[in-house]
Amino acid sequence: MRQVDFTYPNGTKALHGINLKIERGKTTALVGLSGAGKSTILNLLNKFYEPDSGEILLDGINLNEYENASLRSEIGLVLQKNHIFKGTIEDNIRYGKIEATHEEIIAAARKAYLHDQIMELPMQYQSDAQLLSGGSSSASL
Ligand SMILES: Nc1ncnc2c1ncn2[C@@H]1O[C@H](COP(=O)(O)OP(=O)(O)O)[C@@H](O)[C@H]1O
Ligand SMILES: [Mg+2]
Repeated sequence: MRQVDFTYPNGTKALHGINLKIERGKTTALVGLSGAGKSTILNLLNKFYEPDSGEILLDGINLNEYENASLRSEIGLVLQKNHIFKGTIEDNIRYGKIEATHEEIIAAARKAYLHDQIMELPMQYQSDAQLLSGGSSSASL
């Protein structure tokens, strides 16, 4: 990120002149007080919003050049707020990759340690997703 400024649509100025280099193969943590702008940076990296000014490059190429779908297929995102929508557990997991097979969905649920809990439900993967408790609701494809 080079000299990134960002303002939310409601007028909140969230980022001012942010410079940040995240290096390949390293684990990088963003640490700071609540409201400092950590989640906002993640929103921009996912192209949920665009910077007002400055630029964001991935492998030297501006993020604008990447398709949202291909960019996001490389990103796993677990936010503080859970997003479970109405529908089956299978539909909710599939949301991360529409063309996923049932086997891939099971594999994702296993990775999130959800599979056993799902199998105990009467309708298993076809159960209403709202039945899952909040703390255990993050599976990523
Ligand atoms: N959706 C939003 N709309 C307007 N302002 C927001 C929104 N999300 C965050 N903000 C504001 O942007 C600033 C940075 O917030 P945020 O990125 O969530 O910080 P952090 O993740 O470091 O706690 C804060 O002032 C916050 O109130
Ligand atoms: Mg945050």
